[in-house]
Amino acid sequence: MNAPLIDPFQRAISYLRVSVTDRCDFRCLYCMSENMTFLPKKELLTLEELDRMCSTFIRLGVRKLRITGGEPLVRRDIMTFFRAMSRHLESGDLDELTLTTNGSQLSRFAADLAAAGVRRINVSLDTLDEAKFARVTRWGRLAQVMNGIDAAQAAGLRVKINAVALKGFNEDELFTLAEWCAARDCDMTWIEVMPMGDLGNEDRLDQYWSLDDLRARLAERYTLIDLAERTGGPARYVQLEQTGQKIGFITPLTHNFCESCNRVRLTCTGELYMCLGQEDMADLRAPLRVSEDDTALEEAIRNAIAHKPKGHDFDYSRQRADGQMTRHMSHTGG
Ligand code: 5AD
Ligand code: SF4
Repeated sequence: MNAPLIDPFQRAISYLRVSVTDRCDFRCLYCMSENMTFLPKKELLTLEELDRMCSTFIRLGVRKLRITGGEPLVRRDIMTFFRAMSRHLESGDLDELTLTTNGSQLSRFAADLAAAGVRRINVSLDTLDEAKFARVTRWGRLAQVMNGIDAAQAAGLRVKINAVALKGFNEDELFTLAEWCAARDCDMTWIEVMPMGDLGNEDRLDQYWSLDDLRARLAERYTLIDLAERTGGPARYVQLEQTGQKIGFITPLTHNFCESCNRVRLTCTGELYMCLGQEDMADLRAPLRVSEDDTALEEAIRNAIAHKPKGHDFDYSRQRADGQMTRHMSHTGG
């Protein structure tokens, strides 16, 4: 019974995002609180269990795996897991193995990632200013991330920069970030800040910088060409006519993209979230642990996909952060 995973809205689920840890060496303002209580180790799926989970999803038709966190590279021995997943690339069952990272550990791991078959990574970087970087990440050091990006590119990894658009924070870096990415041959995507975590509604609304506005400002300097291309994900792309550079926009608030959603998210404790913006989840750890074979797990996965909701309910349009989630982003990995 290897029928592909199709949800009630006829969307084929071919993309699994896996959070391998809830921990992080940064404490970004929009993602975590300063004093986080992390999960005890016994709650986490072991690396072997993560392997079984991912391999089962791949058997059921998942073609793309993205490893997230927290910060995935702070999980002990995580390269063992990457190396294990590379067998699915070699067999052709998996098209892509990728990673979203804050970049802090890339100097150590870039070469190993490339050796495991990783070709592209996303690095979160909201500012090129050292002091601002320290402010937004609370604990991060920009130089360390820059070294990480250098190491990644030296190892042949294609780097995409993800910047969260933050009002009054990186508005003034719209052009510097774009130019820096072009000069470094990095792709770039802007993300609207989502109402996650424990900041109050007012705070989150204060941070919110609409990408419609960002786009309009970009258009003051460049001619923007809308690209039809969708990479199966929520990003829409424009090309700057003058430079040829592409810039992506992820706009959970101003434009809904749920109709083409192809993904689900697994947390480090084995909960499967069918939608980033909904509370619905299915526990896959119990069916995983109930037996050594994967029958119960498979059934739980199919059952979960059969309940994938139509979309999220994030909405700032009524001047408050509707659809707000109490989960931290580090729980489901963005
Ligand atoms: N809104 C939007 N993006 C967020 N991220 C973390 N928290 C939020 C939020 N509240 C982003 C990070 C990173 C990815 C993992 O998720 O900046 O790019
Ligand atoms: Fe860590 Fe990324 Fe969250 Fe920042 S956004 S605290 S780097 S997981």
